[in-house]
Amino acid sequence: MDDIKTEKIKRERGDYLDLTRSEAQNHYRTESTKEAVKPPGKENVALNKVTDFFESKFFTWFYHYFKSRFGLRHKFQTYKTLRDNGIYKMKKTSHDGRKEISIALASDWATDTKESDKIGDLIAEREPDYSIHLGDTYFVGMKEEVKINFLDENSSWYRGSSGSFALLGNHEMYSRGISYFRDLLPTMGIYSRERKKYEGQKASYFCLENDHWRIVSLDTGYNSVGIPLIEYLFKPKCEYRKEIIEWLRDEVKLDKDKRGIILMTHHQYITAFEKEDEYLKQAEQLAELIGRDRPVLWFWGHEHRLSFFGKYASDNGIQAYGRCIGNGGMPVEFKHRVLPDMDKKRNLMLYDERVYTKIKDTEIGFNGYTMMYVNENLLTVEYYDINNELLVKEIWTADNRSGKIENKEFNIVSKDPGMKTAKN
Ligand SMILES: [Fe+2]
Repeated sequence: MDDIKTEKIKRERGDYLDLTRSEAQNHYRTESTKEAVKPPGKENVALNKVTDFFESKFFTWFYHYFKSRFGLRHKFQTYKTLRDNGIYKMKKTSHDGRKEISIALASDWATDTKESDKIGDLIAEREPDYSIHLGDTYFVGMKEEVKINFLDENSSWYRGSSGSFALLGNHEMYSRGISYFRDLLPTMGIYSRERKKYEGQKASYFCLENDHWRIVSLDTGYNSVGIPLIEYLFKPKCEYRKEIIEWLRDEVKLDKDKRGIILMTHHQYITAFEKEDEYLKQAEQLAELIGRDRPVLWFWGHEHRLSFFGKYASDNGIQAYGRCIGNGGMPVEFKHRVLPDMDKKRNLMLYDERVYTKIKDTEIGFNGYTMMYVNENLLTVEYYDINNELLVKEIWTADNRSGKIENKEFNIVSKDPGMKTAKN
């Protein structure tokens, strides 16, 4: 199996440099790098049916672009008519030698590069109980891209022994979410010992829980694409669909439950680095359920870097301690530095700007992944880079009578000056 893996032609990180969030350009990139995922000796074999019909890349790109622009999104899936309500009690099934329940997180990971393989392998070595991808399969989450990152026998996504989940990002939605819902989700979800298979993830949102914590994972991807052209004038707000709000209220009972809340979404709540790239609507929708005085620990990706925020609330949004972990597989570019005063305004605490390599004279930072360890009311979170170096370790507790969470320890383990503490 290892032989197959090393033989596989990988996409190069340069393919992902300067990747805009433009739908059209990402479709073009899918076409223009398609040779990179063709198996050796089969260079002339088309990977997608559509390429059988068009000879030049321009026409294949145009075909996908056209299809994407005017087709319907995949049907939004819910738990409504199912016995499965998407809420699962966390279980220890792995033999990782720890008593805590272990959960591996990676975001913006699915690039099918040597780096994403390495991150996948590092997660696999830890044999976590659960693994969660926080979204974005590049370039546009089409069938072949989902297959090569998640489904093929030699793909490097590791499925946790108790379960594995994937959130929906904007890039899967550039192909209208079709392959995400149709091909990826049926291979994810809770692992059934009896049936010896993953039961399938039934929707793009779910909740993992114990008696003290709830990991509430939500979909901001479905509403991340707008009307062609118009979306450049009026940026989609990436709000939760009403089915998700109903589920949070009626099934999760987020408003009444007093366990500590760990939130996961693809899109960031806030940033200190990119202008007008905050998604506040999701935090406002949550505020209507849990109010504005109940802080949560919130993991997100989308922005390709590692950064940590102290407690922050937008004008009408919830209070959150933000953790941006979008450093899973895309090149970590530093073209956006901290915006003037935004470190103070957003309560930025720490961010990783260590230089890992250079591509075409562009400095590239470190990819990485996150490990969560849950033991009753105690939560430990460890942030690792691609060299498996522990960068930050933090410890949290939750009080299930008050709903309060508390940061007991925040330890910057790496002494590298590229781990920058914000001047607040
Ligand atoms: Fe994204």
